[in-house]
Amino acid sequence: MERIILDYTNMSPVIRGEAISRLQAQVDLALQTTLQKTGAGNDFLGWVNLPNEIDDAFLRDIQQTADALRTNSDVIVAVGIGGSYLGAKAVIEALKGPFAGTEKVLFAGQNMSSWYMNDLLALLEKKDFSVIAISKSGTTTEPGLAFRILKNAVEKKYGKAGAKERIVAITDKARGALKQLANGEGYKTYVIPDDVGGRFSVLTPVGLLPIACAGLDIREFVNGFKTMAKVITAETNVMKNPALAYAAIRTLLHRQGKDIELLVNFEPALHFVSEWWKQLYGESEGKDGKALFPASVDFSTDLHSMGQLIQDGKRNLFETFVMVKKSRYSVLIPHDDANLDGFNFVEGKNLDDVNYSAYQGTILAHRDGGTPNMTIELPDLTPFYLGQLFYFFEIGVAVSGYMLGVNPFDQPGVEDYKNNMFALLGKPGKEQATEKIRAELARMMPKRIG
Ligand code: PA5
Repeated sequence: MERIILDYTNMSPVIRGEAISRLQAQVDLALQTTLQKTGAGNDFLGWVNLPNEIDDAFLRDIQQTADALRTNSDVIVAVGIGGSYLGAKAVIEALKGPFAGTEKVLFAGQNMSSWYMNDLLALLEKKDFSVIAISKSGTTTEPGLAFRILKNAVEKKYGKAGAKERIVAITDKARGALKQLANGEGYKTYVIPDDVGGRFSVLTPVGLLPIACAGLDIREFVNGFKTMAKVITAETNVMKNPALAYAAIRTLLHRQGKDIELLVNFEPALHFVSEWWKQLYGESEGKDGKALFPASVDFSTDLHSMGQLIQDGKRNLFETFVMVKKSRYSVLIPHDDANLDGFNFVEGKNLDDVNYSAYQGTILAHRDGGTPNMTIELPDLTPFYLGQLFYFFEIGVAVSGYMLGVNPFDQPGVEDYKNNMFALLGKPGKEQATEKIRAELARMMPKRIG
């Protein structure tokens, strides 16, 4: 069975093998702290064992629910945000392709735009649809409001009894408004384990149910996780284990002064894999005044917008490419008699061959320009290899976060804007904060131009 590999050829001369090897003891410590759950945030390490804990009965149940929703619906709307959204979105788009918007699963609750919701409701009016409400806390504003609106739409169309067949809730086992509501209404409910944080929850019903609803093979996705979990425990030599080498290399680069990691693809369908990765790394490492800033670009598209900066701007970044070895389709470039565009020199080639040459040209040019880069290579774009990739990144951030000296499993900083927003909206219980923030806004001297 093939596995994903890490190619760090273009880290040279900035990072050489000896430097990576010298980090072995630190990597060991961080890995063992993760696997044995002895470090900061160890009450949120349930995701580590998920690949081996998932059993057949659970997967059958998820599949049955998905099949029932797929049978009675043209469209299934998954409502969630952050960790309750990005994993499923990333997998579905990566495997269904860039036009996945027209497919079976749509998303809501990841924004508060009236425009988005208006157009979604208009689309649903003409379809049979179901809703999966996903929120661990059960109190998050964006999915909470979207679900309120969509529940209303389901009930209007199918009545209360019909809604029971068409709404599934995925939430905490006991706490939160969504749990209470689901119990009251009699919705089918799945539990998000207490010890699995949002950004690590793609292997729970949070990710698996929408992925199965899209008609994708969740068993193969789980198998990918299992395979990478075996690699992680069987081979702890940093020079032989791609996930550990990735964590070590990004740590070395950060210690050398690189502040930004760009995750790069040459495949539009991978755009949301980068979005998922950004949350995973940003929320896990960005604290206590520390972090590598996780950013992403889609090539070759962004070579025409960000290429100049990456080649030649401030030398504070490095790149991690995610490349897929196998071409999915053959789209041959035709001969043109007039050859006015001058492209007959590539006639007969598959478009992906040209894309691959762009990749090869880019990694060399960027390395020569002072942007070291490495490549994570997937043999193919399938649920199995995506499962491997997701666990690779999860272990990678745990090891890298501990080496950075932070607790990779909390996110205290995400509460601050919410507190201000709730105070401004006059949420009951926030009266004092409401007064304070309104007074602060009134005191502020507007500085506006134009
Ligand atoms: O990783 C996280 O904890 C967050 O991104 C959450 O997933 C996100 O805020 C959604 O939270 P909830 O699932 O409680 O609605």
